[in-house]
Amino acid sequence: MKFAQRSGRKTRVGLCVFLLATAAQADPQGQNIYTQGGESPAALACATCHGPDGMGVGSAGFPRLAGLSPGYLVKQLEDFRSGKRSNAVMQPIAAALTDPEGKAVASYLGALAIAASSADLAPTGSVGSAAEKLVKQGDWSRNIPACVACHGVGNSGVGESFPPLLDQSGVYIAAQLNAWRSGTRKNDPNDLMGHIARSLSDTEIRDLSAYFAGLGGEGKP
Ligand code: HEC
Ligand code: HEC
Repeated sequence: MKFAQRSGRKTRVGLCVFLLATAAQADPQGQNIYTQGGESPAALACATCHGPDGMGVGSAGFPRLAGLSPGYLVKQLEDFRSGKRSNAVMQPIAAALTDPEGKAVASYLGALAIAASSADLAPTGSVGSAAEKLVKQGDWSRNIPACVACHGVGNSGVGESFPPLLDQSGVYIAAQLNAWRSGTRKNDPNDLMGHIARSLSDTEIRDLSAYFAGLGGEGKP
């Protein structure tokens, strides 16, 4: 008897919370979606994994989304949905977001400023390690252009197409290079990244990952 009463009260409280949450989510504002999730219960709150400030959780491989261009973010959500980019965690979430929700959350994230990073933004300078050479000069004997040629000065990103690598964790960078190599990420229309990733050795991927981690992405909370 006692148990039945208690669970009845719980249900009413639960219903109230549900109604309040639904009212908040009916507002298609990007921030609400980011912090509370979309209309569908499967469109989980992004902040849970991507962090309250959108800076990701480096060690867990949850990428930084703050300050990425809205066009790039919307494209990634579409690519998860179509399976061009496969990931067991993000695919169901992307599928559960409506198009307007995806656009709203992307424009919210694109507008988030990020704290200045400790990265080496100088276009030239000493090229010490093999990884730094790949980043700043590439390796033309294998048709690998410098990462900065597309990802911009200091790898801080260029326009809608070339995402920043700066402030992404080493764990995430390595996971993406390996995904292109194995074909689980094949969302790059001209196969630019596919070609690059397949041309890199395991050691180079490890070294690049350590290089980007060293710029500060790894230790992000
Ligand atoms: C349960 C954890 C989790 C939640 C919740 C989550 N994500 Fe993700 N997200 C991930 C992981 C893990 C990846 C990396 C996937 C991969 O390696 O391809 C990712 C990657 C992404 C990317 C690709 C970023 C890039 O740089 O290419 C976007 C965009 C994204 N998530 C958007 C969202 C949005 C929008 C929400 C909320 C509606 C959300 N995520 C909720 C775990 C999560
Ligand atoms: C010829 C241009 C080009 C060059 C050179 C290039 N990239 Fe990219 N890279 C891209 C494009 C385009 C994308 C986004 C693809 C998409 O739409 O998902 C990308 C995405 C990435 C991503 C995924 C970022 C994210 O947020 O998910 C990583 C990691 C990456 N590149 C690493 C590198 C590294 C490391 C190098 C140098 C060894 C490099 N790239 C050189 C064009 C390039």
